[in-house]
Amino acid sequence: MNLRESLVAEIRQHGSMPFEVFQDRSLYDPDAGFFTTGALRSVASGDFLTSPEVSPLFGETLSAFVGAEWARLGRPEQMDMVEVAAGSGSLSRALLGATSAPLEPIMIEVSPAARAVLEEDLGNVRSELPPEINGVLLANEFIDNLPVSLAVWEGTEWTERWVGLDGDDLALVSVAARSEVASWASQFGIPVEAGGIVEVQLAAGDWLRDALGRLASGCLVLIDYGGTSENLAPRRADGTLRTYRSHHHGPHPLSAPGETDITVDVNFSALVDVATDFGFDVEMARQDDFLSAWGLRDRLSELRRKELALAQGSNTMDRLVVRSQKTEAETLLHPRGLGDFWVFVARRQNAEPRFEK
Ligand SMILES: C[S@@+](CC[C@H](N)C(=O)[O-])C[C@H]1O[C@@H](n2cnc3c(N)ncnc32)[C@H](O)[C@@H]1O
Repeated sequence: MNLRESLVAEIRQHGSMPFEVFQDRSLYDPDAGFFTTGALRSVASGDFLTSPEVSPLFGETLSAFVGAEWARLGRPEQMDMVEVAAGSGSLSRALLGATSAPLEPIMIEVSPAARAVLEEDLGNVRSELPPEINGVLLANEFIDNLPVSLAVWEGTEWTERWVGLDGDDLALVSVAARSEVASWASQFGIPVEAGGIVEVQLAAGDWLRDALGRLASGCLVLIDYGGTSENLAPRRADGTLRTYRSHHHGPHPLSAPGETDITVDVNFSALVDVATDFGFDVEMARQDDFLSAWGLRDRLSELRRKELALAQGSNTMDRLVVRSQKTEAETLLHPRGLGDFWVFVARRQNAEPRFEK
């Protein structure tokens, strides 16, 4: 029985299931989940290409930020660098290669294929966060995968879409909204027109609360697509739930459970709310601004100058290498592409350096 068939059998026996349960099974089912089975997903031959896979310049630029955090903490003899959802390790590998800070890498991954690659050279691969973290806790394109509930504004009240059956097929069915879902949607899913769809991101908040509880010193950095509640307003008419497979938008999530990524635009306002409630300060910046602030735009100018200088010579190979690095930096900074991602940095309020200089 494949995952779709076992979900159909389960719904026939027990009734429809909340969307977040369906998404959790589709992505993380131990025998058939998209992330828990199959090949490495976040590489050129896989299903999506992320910033660190576009270029090592991403990790190299982040190394300047991490180095500054190490200095802020008083230059401890060793500092944790925990990467959640590390994929192939392209971010950590570039970051560790570029830093002089004494970082202790800890990689968190659920995918066996990714874990095998990480174990080759990054070591210390785990499926759970360590109980205490002193340093930087980093995740690129992780939160967008955490299971969501689907709320629909009916004009006067919220309903939810659960996963039920239409004959032998999986189908979305309308049910009254649970109170926690309606209350999240009313807080972070407005303004919304009648018929508008809001992906309720309670699991993302739960993950963040747990991660912040483990961060004894240092900061947590989340990088992802999405925006504030206000930024997301124009996207509510159709909602942002989508799938990816082989670098393209995939079919509806219900049509191929376990075979596609399922993702939404991250609502960063809800994450800011969780972090501030938890006693953390949050800074947010667009990825293009953040990477510029940590030196990538200067690096791009340098690459442009170098390319011009090389154009006058006869070393075609050097010129091609520099041109490709220049294109990679431009891709990371593109204002309507990766540059439009958000960087969320949370630090304990009134954080004092924990280590002596
Ligand atoms: C879009 S890829 C991003 C990979 C990497 N961060 C990058 O930027 O290239 C998402 C990764 O998150 C991992 N992942 C998804 N959910 C996870 C979870 N709950 N815990 C740990 N890893 C997770 C997947 O296995 C996959 O490698």
